[in-house]
Amino acid sequence: MYDLFSEIEAPEREELRRLRKELEEANYKYYVLNMPTLSDREFDEKMHRLQALEAMFPDMFDPKSPTQHVGSDLVESKKSKDKSNKAFETVKHKYPMLSLANSYSREEIEDWVRKLPSGVEIVCELKYDGLSISLWYEHGVLVKALTRGDGQQGDNVIENIKTIPSIPWRIERKDVPEFFELRGEVLLPWERFEMLNKEREEQEEPLFANPRNAASGTLKLQDPREVARRGLDAYLYYMLGENLPGSTHFERLETAKAWGFRISDAIKVCHNVDEVMAYIAYWDTERKNLPVATDGIVLKVNDLAQQEELGYTAKTPRWAIAYKFPAEKQLTLLKEITYQVGRTGVVTPVANLEPVQLSGTMVQRATLHNEDFIKQLDIRPGDRVWVEKGGEIIPKIVGREESGVRNQDSGYSFPTVCPECGATLIRVEGEAAWRCPNESGCPPQIKGKIEHFVSRKAMNIDGLGEETIDLFYQKGLLKNIADIYDLKLEDIAAQERLGEKSAQNILDGIEASKNVPWSRVLFALGIRMVGETTAKKIARKYNTIDSLQWATAEQLCAIEDVGPQIAENIVKYFEDLQNLEILERLRQAGLQMEGEAEAAPTSDKLAGLSIVISGTFAQHSRDEYKAMIEAHGGKNVGSVSKKTSFILAGENMGPEKRKKAEDLGIPLKTEEEFLEIVEN
Ligand code: IVH
Repeated sequence: MYDLFSEIEAPEREELRRLRKELEEANYKYYVLNMPTLSDREFDEKMHRLQALEAMFPDMFDPKSPTQHVGSDLVESKKSKDKSNKAFETVKHKYPMLSLANSYSREEIEDWVRKLPSGVEIVCELKYDGLSISLWYEHGVLVKALTRGDGQQGDNVIENIKTIPSIPWRIERKDVPEFFELRGEVLLPWERFEMLNKEREEQEEPLFANPRNAASGTLKLQDPREVARRGLDAYLYYMLGENLPGSTHFERLETAKAWGFRISDAIKVCHNVDEVMAYIAYWDTERKNLPVATDGIVLKVNDLAQQEELGYTAKTPRWAIAYKFPAEKQLTLLKEITYQVGRTGVVTPVANLEPVQLSGTMVQRATLHNEDFIKQLDIRPGDRVWVEKGGEIIPKIVGREESGVRNQDSGYSFPTVCPECGATLIRVEGEAAWRCPNESGCPPQIKGKIEHFVSRKAMNIDGLGEETIDLFYQKGLLKNIADIYDLKLEDIAAQERLGEKSAQNILDGIEASKNVPWSRVLFALGIRMVGETTAKKIARKYNTIDSLQWATAEQLCAIEDVGPQIAENIVKYFEDLQNLEILERLRQAGLQMEGEAEAAPTSDKLAGLSIVISGTFAQHSRDEYKAMIEAHGGKNVGSVSKKTSFILAGENMGPEKRKKAEDLGIPLKTEEEFLEIVEN
């Protein structure tokens, strides 16, 4: 007979299944997609709850549960659509890469220390918030650098790791064992992270939420030169292998230091709970002065034999634990939600808060991202909300105070019209953002387009900053990018704060912009999602604006980096009559609407000359300069010698080359001087 009661099961079983799924998914988003959906704390809380439930229901044990293995950052070549993510070799770890048990509670840490056998030494270290890496050295030579992957096997990212200056490629010492492994954390220092995001903002690429995501995205790039440019760094904290010198963890780190590795100075051997807690208290504040992100303290039993005795669980060593710093959080009043319209028309809701002190700064505004975010948190003006500043630099709202009376009928709804120009907002399917479609009539979009057009990597027009553009817009002098080329000296000089001299400067900048090559003109137009690199690739294929104008979406998709969305944006751009009119005016003004013909001009202007290229350049890439040298009969050589005719010197030329050139009396030429030679 059908037994009704056997169908009923404890709701906790259902919760257990749900948590497994949720954590699996969170792991995937975090490790593979690089897009975390849960905060560290939420993740840890859910994980602890799942562990508790699994202990309650041993019959539901599953070796595949997230409690039994660490998340995976393996780049999945089959699933991954991103062309750049394919080519890393997957390698099995010699020793599995485990994770650490962790706690946000200082009491739990005290307990953990107290439960250790008496007299045990504890090494305290900072917990660096980056990605773990495992470096293999054979006969003193770096042979592999593996990401954690799924803990059992990882991706070999050695080419990218070799760009980190503090990681030695080779250790020239007699006492180095045949094989050893050194583990540590790869990080992007705060300063580099901020630079990178600023650059991405200018180029309309999505920003990285925090340095860890940025480091992870960087480590998976296929272009070590780009990796090098971004400036990763590493801290090492664990040495493994057979027959290694030393009987304690601390001695091993000292050894690694002697071999030339970068080991943090913050490491301390502690002998009791008080020393450990004092270490935590000290670094809780002091860590804010470090150049890299940290999210806690790691405690490790120092003696290796004692470590061995304590052993491991499936996921973590029993001889170590991490204390995690709580993200700093404050409760404050959400006074009002205002809306900011960006250059591309995206309308971002902004929380205006009763000012509150958070991690040493006064916070009064925080992003609310988009409509869905607000609905998910169910917040509305008048609520008391939690503001958090974690690994991110921009403070965020993470929830609202649940208790307290709410004004029931003041439910929240997103505006339907643009707060700046009144146009009806649209929401593209599949996108979270509402957008103002009034590209050519909405003030922040107009000003934003002009700002982008004149920016350094686009037309590079000096003197036209944000404020000046705003002023000219108010005065009716600038309504679109083509108006720039109609500006007159007397119009500019008549404005307050702008004398004849700065007016002339602006006009000079405008004049010079007429020589900016076609690929940068294309970038400057500000077609949605057409960033600097994409513009270059398109311009190489379509070397006149007319050919580009008639390209179909399908043809455009054949270009590397151009997907259907970008192709459609380009096609749409050229369908808009206002755009065509602006383009015509730009052409009349004398802008470069054609690239160098496929075969660059050739001559023998540089015949017989040996030229070294050094530094970075504003007008062309190094490769383009190399091609130019060759096209004009010269020879591009790598190093400076007596035979070098001159050095094409960009910014930040290497100090060694500069010194050598000085010693040998080799002349330097700027890129302008060089272009003058080949073009005239
Ligand atoms: S020791 C078996 N020490 O934190 C123990 N890990 O949540 C191996 N981490 O996977 C790790 N700083 O990526 C250790 N000083 C430190 C650390 C550290 C950061 C990371 C590491 C690890 C994760 C665990």
